[in-house]
Amino acid sequence: MRTLVVDHPLVSHKLTALRDAASDTATFRSLTAELVTLLAYEATREMRVQPVSVTTPVGVARGVKLARPVPLIVPVLRAGIGMLDGMTRLLPMADVGFVGLRRDEESLVASTYADRLPADLTGRDTFVLDPMLATGGTLATVISMLTNRGAASVTAICLLAAPEGLRHVEAAFAGDGTPDESSREPWVRVVTAAVDERLNDRGYIVPGLGDAGDRLFGQI
Ligand code: URA
Repeated sequence: MRTLVVDHPLVSHKLTALRDAASDTATFRSLTAELVTLLAYEATREMRVQPVSVTTPVGVARGVKLARPVPLIVPVLRAGIGMLDGMTRLLPMADVGFVGLRRDEESLVASTYADRLPADLTGRDTFVLDPMLATGGTLATVISMLTNRGAASVTAICLLAAPEGLRHVEAAFAGDGTPDESSREPWVRVVTAAVDERLNDRGYIVPGLGDAGDRLFGQI
């Protein structure tokens, strides 16, 4: 598993505003979408392409188009839904699947309550959207669901990550996440705007940004 921390002034600026407890829901939503689009730019860097030619008004240009099958975007319910707009802005041709996991507040162990994924993901690039990589239990489960169905790559886009969560996912997916066409091993990567200090005893990232789902959609 490979981790990329996107070190860019615009990303840091937007993340700082997102963390601010004074940012209201509307601001939080629009910052999330903008941040995801910036992270997605880096997260899609290794997508497979195929050569094509197009006729311009003055000649023929050689270029590329994204290889088929089209990528699959997987927002993890519920907070991942808040990241979907920012991602589809960059990949409007992608399919979208959904996964829902519930975290037991005592044990912090996640169990699946929704699985709307294609049965066969052979050869597909997949992008998991989950704003907070906390313990890593949820993300490790979702990555396994995708690799077990044959995904060629799994790239998780997280606004923030905790060191504990990264260690958990790294231990579960030991490869180095480097693209290798000759290998049948899926590439697993995490792209995030920052790695924070730690988790607190309730499983929240410190300093983090609080409960991403609540800040996006309200406390229900
Ligand atoms: N989920 C959140 O929304 N926030 C955290 O800090 C950890 C998990």
